[in-house]
Amino acid sequence: MSKVVRYGILGCGMMGQEHLRNLALIEGAQVVAIAEPDADMKAQAAQLAPDALMLDTLDELLQVQGLDALVVVTPNYQHAEQLLAILQRTDLAVLIEKPVITQLDQVAAVKAAADRHPAPLWVAMEYRYMPPITALRSHLEQGDIGQMQMLSVREHRFPFLEKVNDWNRFNRNTGGTLVEKCCHFFDLMRLLAADEVVRVYASAGQDNNHLEEAYSGERPDILDNAYVVVDFASGKRAMLELNMFAEGSRYQEEICAVGPRGKLECFVPGPGRFWPGATLGPAPVARVVLSPREPKGPIEAEIPVDPNILAAGDHNGSTYYQHLGFYRALTEGGKVDVTVDDGLKAVVIGLAAQHSAATGKAVTLTEGGLSFEY
Ligand SMILES: NC(=O)c1ccc[n+]([C@@H]2O[C@H](COP(=O)([O-])OP(=O)(O)OC[C@H]3O[C@@H](n4cnc5c(N)ncnc54)[C@H](O)[C@@H]3O)[C@@H](O)[C@H]2O)c1
Repeated sequence: MSKVVRYGILGCGMMGQEHLRNLALIEGAQVVAIAEPDADMKAQAAQLAPDALMLDTLDELLQVQGLDALVVVTPNYQHAEQLLAILQRTDLAVLIEKPVITQLDQVAAVKAAADRHPAPLWVAMEYRYMPPITALRSHLEQGDIGQMQMLSVREHRFPFLEKVNDWNRFNRNTGGTLVEKCCHFFDLMRLLAADEVVRVYASAGQDNNHLEEAYSGERPDILDNAYVVVDFASGKRAMLELNMFAEGSRYQEEICAVGPRGKLECFVPGPGRFWPGATLGPAPVARVVLSPREPKGPIEAEIPVDPNILAAGDHNGSTYYQHLGFYRALTEGGKVDVTVDDGLKAVVIGLAAQHSAATGKAVTLTEGGLSFEY
């Protein structure tokens, strides 16, 4: 029989409910308490986890006896403060949604508290666990293109969805689009390059989305398209192309890595629930293409995902595989894949990109990658 892990969930809106659906697929994972202040979201969460104690606040959640782990899925701007409170008051394991912070001046305190914590801390970076991306990573590790020199990540997707109290409409709440959304991609770039970023240049704008919206008279200020160029210490380079008014695309993410022996591409569809199946038929399946230089001839593979796992979220099955890793870190002493340090570094690259986009200047990251000069 699987070992039982008792989870508490903080924040149970759209993504918190994706965590619930995926935890339900793991034998041994038990959600025993959920803190969620919004009545609608609380009712939806209660349907997914009918046995869980329903609470309103972090304070109430921290009083629940017998928890093993917390999953933090609140709006970005609350993460740093909540994580610090959890680390100060408990020894619990924590899986916290990205971005782990939204401001540069939060780095030091979060890093220090995380370093002292006795239990596993894991930053949720779902894109690492998408099956086509893990397939691309295996090709890289097997040396199928030699040492990767260039990496590009193109995300063409739908605009930001509506969130509880519209928190995602303002940079002050999200950290900015290049932090909120794109810390995933900067994390992926670090992972695939196995290297640290030294310089970032971004050109970005808000040219199409949310321009007609107003919240208490204030217009959203979030970027909807960007190019970000990233240099690594070793001389490897990467580029992000983000467009958030391109939901007509067949694939949402297109990732391309090139090395001296060939090229690797990975095509990942967006959330199946947005695909117009009634008119277009079944949603696209992810693909990975290896194109060696010699002999020429692309080798193409479809990477299907188990339909139950696919249906449990919007992220090509990744939330399930990430939770499996976290569960194993707790029950078998498995490795923490995405440390707080990884989470912080991905945010710092995003903050550097936001700064570069605002000033038109490249940003050099100082050694250690946890502060930037400009
Ligand atoms: N990794 C991914 O791919 C991915 C995808 C979507 C969202 N996220 C992250 O998940 C987090 C939540 O995003 P979302 O899309 O679910 O937003 P959401 O607005 O749908 O959900 C946030 C929930 O937190 C609740 N909340 C607010 N303050 C709270 C508090 N103090 N205590 C407890 N609950 C509180 C809100 O009522 C809401 O239900 C964000 O950090 C977001 O960046 C990650």
